[in-house]
Amino acid sequence: MAVVGRGAARDTYPAIPFFAEFDAGWRSTTVAVDWPVHYTRAIENQLDVAHIAFIHRTTIGRGGRSFVDGPYVEADDASIRVWVTNSRHTGRERRGMAELAAAAVGRDPSLTFLFPGLWRLNIGSRLKNVVAFVPIDAVTTRYYLRVYHRVTNPLLRWPFEALMRLSSRSILNQDRAIVVTQTPMDSTRAMGDRLIEADRAIAQYRRMHARLLRRAPRLEVLPSLLSPAPALVAPAPAAEVVPA
Ligand SMILES: [Fe+2]
Repeated sequence: MAVVGRGAARDTYPAIPFFAEFDAGWRSTTVAVDWPVHYTRAIENQLDVAHIAFIHRTTIGRGGRSFVDGPYVEADDASIRVWVTNSRHTGRERRGMAELAAAAVGRDPSLTFLFPGLWRLNIGSRLKNVVAFVPIDAVTTRYYLRVYHRVTNPLLRWPFEALMRLSSRSILNQDRAIVVTQTPMDSTRAMGDRLIEADRAIAQYRRMHARLLRRAPRLEVLPSLLSPAPALVAPAPAAEVVPA
């Protein structure tokens, strides 16, 4: 993957974020699709752990795990890590943060997000999904969806990758029907959104994204990415966010 920037040339550049684990032992196959959405909504959709049992009930949400315990979320200056512990409703109480934190020790996070726009789903030790969210303009985001795997046999690799591309498109299309309806398109203007505890990772993304925008040198911010068409922006009532 390549990173393109604008502005004056510098003597030094920050490190390009990526997932260090993908060394030469991994193979990958990539699908690219353009959606009529702002990049903030595209990213937040992939950090939303509560929708899986509903929107994906015929695919990855088939297990009916609609009970959202947590999620447990950790973050630093450049990344967000999410441990997803959804389960079926059994009547048990939700675990507290200390209990969820203890359960996360020694386990890889289910989701990892690297700013500004890289996401990884940890499906298993030999299979991962990565999405690069690329803002095209204020109303278009390109998804580069890449499946990383360790199938090296050429006779198996081709059909496996074809199947992965097909299923990735299918699962992502289930999200599309919802994400394209969200208003305002740019979530930085979504003063009326009511986030719940299950949205803890989204709340964290919004906090960190706002901080990065405040720090961004004005000349390097693309105005077209921050100013959706006025006709697409809904009135903005007061904000209410459940803190993490
Ligand atoms: Fe989804």
